[in-house]
Amino acid sequence: MITSGWLQCIKCGTQFPLDEIRYLCTCQGLLASQRPPGWARGVSTALFDSRRLGNRSEIDQSGVWRFREGVLDAMPSEIVTHPEGATRLYRRKPLSLWAGIEELGFKHEGENPTASFKDRGMTVAITHAVRLKARAVACASTGNTSSSLAAYAAQAGLGAVVFVPSGKVSMGKLAQTLAYGALTLKVAGDFDAAMDLVMRASQALGIYLVNSVNPFRVEGQKTIIWEILQDLGWKPPDWIAFPAGNLGNTSAFGKALKEAYEAGWIAKVPRLLAVQAAGANPFFKSFGEKWARRYKVKAETVATAIRIGDPVSHDRARESIDYTHGVVTEVTDPELLEAKRHIDMSGLGCEPASACSLAGARKMRQAGVIGEKESVVCVLTGHLLKDTDTVMQQITSESSERVVEIEPTLEAVERAVAGRFSESGR
Ligand code: F0G
Repeated sequence: MITSGWLQCIKCGTQFPLDEIRYLCTCQGLLASQRPPGWARGVSTALFDSRRLGNRSEIDQSGVWRFREGVLDAMPSEIVTHPEGATRLYRRKPLSLWAGIEELGFKHEGENPTASFKDRGMTVAITHAVRLKARAVACASTGNTSSSLAAYAAQAGLGAVVFVPSGKVSMGKLAQTLAYGALTLKVAGDFDAAMDLVMRASQALGIYLVNSVNPFRVEGQKTIIWEILQDLGWKPPDWIAFPAGNLGNTSAFGKALKEAYEAGWIAKVPRLLAVQAAGANPFFKSFGEKWARRYKVKAETVATAIRIGDPVSHDRARESIDYTHGVVTEVTDPELLEAKRHIDMSGLGCEPASACSLAGARKMRQAGVIGEKESVVCVLTGHLLKDTDTVMQQITSESSERVVEIEPTLEAVERAVAGRFSESGR
């Protein structure tokens, strides 16, 4: 029996034991993992800092389990860790200039083991799945969750089945998911149809669901925020900007900030800036109407990771935006692709959806929502190599001058590079 904590409906407050397999309350409300009041007593930022500096056990190396008291009460021997997290926070002058934001950081979650932030939630969900003695795990995915699920299920020796929208997942993500050994069901429909199907199938077949509707995924993803705060010496930025699709991160980020503030780890709460693609913007529309109604849209965007029209975590995410006095905005495909080009050309690189964070921050700076002196951290959620098709399309449509076919001669090289580089080489 797992005793320290419980699951609680965010709508009606009903509580359930942590080891009960359920994702929704009887009232259909979403569930959140809660721990007893006072859990953070004696859990200080100094403890987290000592674990980070100590480079000892695998769980201390993990940027998720380093914060374990606030994640999941598991025995070290139960934990399925790669380890993950411990990603870097970067600053790049050209990106600051382009966005008009002097203090601008980039938390690169593409540096996780399967190259996206999903590993942070997956290590927790798979650890819990093993404790529950699940025989198999499932998710619907636009490609990153499925890659992460497949990798962690392989490590834990669990069966894995993923539901992906047919033809709408990048080749890299699909290859990754298959390579790690997951059974892959290509659903004739979009992500929202796949999500609906996996919810029904997991119930009917007794397979443990690890989409972000699963409260343990959210617990792991909180550590993106805690690690950013730690990177900054526990001095929060004014804003944290990130792409929003199925709204797992939005949910996790608000919970992380609330818990950090209540635990006394930070003295102020940064504002969240959730950025949607304009073609997949139900949360933005709802925010614009002060949450008067919940929208479903038929999603279409080049950022396939967030091509989602009916996000499952809407209600939890809304709490996060309200708690942090946050903002939800949208960016068009050309805007996010332009931001991506700048991120790529700075040497950082990211997948299309990730670039929403910078595109949105720049837009909000231009609109005066982000103040001139305010600091921003953008979360880059996935690695550049997750979607190489979009890169190649972008390069060929902009100008083909960077790809030159040549004969294998020195003269041909000389012709190709002529006039390209300045004297200093920079
Ligand atoms: N960025 C990337 C790279 C993603 O893969 C996702 C979601 C998001 C942002 C949005 O995060 O859903 O928490 O709002 N990808 C999911 C998947 C849907 O299946 O890989 P969210």
